Amino acid sequence: MKNILSGKVAAGFWRLCDWHMSTKQLQSYTEALLARGITVMDHADIYGAGQAEAQFGTMLKQAPSLREQMVLVSKCGVTLPSSEQLFTQAAAYDNSKAYIISQVERSLTSLNSDHLDLLLVHRPDYLMQHDEIAEAMLSLQQQGKVKTFGVSNFDPVDVAELKKHIPLQTNQIELSVVEPKSVLNRELVHYQNDMVTMAWSPFAGGRLFNANARLAQALMAVAKAHDATVPQIALAWIYALPQAILPVLGTGKIERVDEALGAAEIPLTKRQWYYLLEASTGVSVP
Ligand SMILES: NC(=O)c1ccc[n+]([C@@H]2O[C@H](COP(=O)([O-])OP(=O)(O)OC[C@H]3O[C@@H](n4cnc5c(N)ncnc54)[C@H](OP(=O)(O)O)[C@@H]3O)[C@@H](O)[C@H]2O)c1
Repeated sequence: MKNILSGKVAAGFWRLCDWHMSTKQLQSYTEALLARGITVMDHADIYGAGQAEAQFGTMLKQAPSLREQMVLVSKCGVTLPSSEQLFTQAAAYDNSKAYIISQVERSLTSLNSDHLDLLLVHRPDYLMQHDEIAEAMLSLQQQGKVKTFGVSNFDPVDVAELKKHIPLQTNQIELSVVEPKSVLNRELVHYQNDMVTMAWSPFAGGRLFNANARLAQALMAVAKAHDATVPQIALAWIYALPQAILPVLGTGKIERVDEALGAAEIPLTKRQWYYLLEASTGVSVP
């Protein structure tokens, strides 16, 4: 299976509604991403309670030629709280066939696109059946509504189980020097070579810039040694991992994207990598 995820970073649109961009500004931003070789656009049905996909879809309607230049990714399976019906006051997960199919159809309408390039199951629903998820995926693929599939926040056991039924492009997981638990728990080692790990919140949602004093100092020391910036070192720490990893950036500022693109060429030494890990966790490796 050819993996469709390429580039140094992906663009995440979770925070799109906070950027307060006009449709024209969103178009310019998207064009700037594409011009830099950033083609993977990461969405989810629930971002901005549905408004993020709707805004992006409005932009795609105005600039339809952009659609074929990108790898359009969305996710489904998380249901938002609602007070409309009984027992819906809390968020829940729903990876049933009916829900997956209905949410993809909703995302396609919002995004003004006839297909997704990649659909991720957002979270492991504790009540899920792997063969039922695969059935939904195959049905969507046969109808031409989704080209390829992946998961997000799945553990390696569930990834392997679902892969028995259908090829997967990715497991999108939280991964950063601030939140390294997926590395410490060896969640990445099981992935087969044909999968790319998408690293969400590579700057821990901005907490990198407010890290504890020990980590902040360590990041600055390594940044100085490489004549680089702190966000570049945070990304270099991710790139140093041996697996194929695609960080999903959350910024809407093109100058921060440019800064991030400079990170791929920074080779951290093993000592620097472990120095940052220890500064993050406060625990020496045994
Ligand atoms: N699969 C999942 O469960 C899951 C969960 C969460 C996120 N995601 C995906 O991952 C993407 C990225 O997540 P994220 O937004 O948390 O990513 P992030 O890149 O770790 O954090 C983005 C935040 O950091 C701030 N930031 C970035 N560079 C900065 C800098 N140099 N100085 C100060 N602040 C800076 C941004 O502010 P500015 O906007 O001002 O630059 C933004 O508020 C999301 O858009 C979504 O696509 C997936």
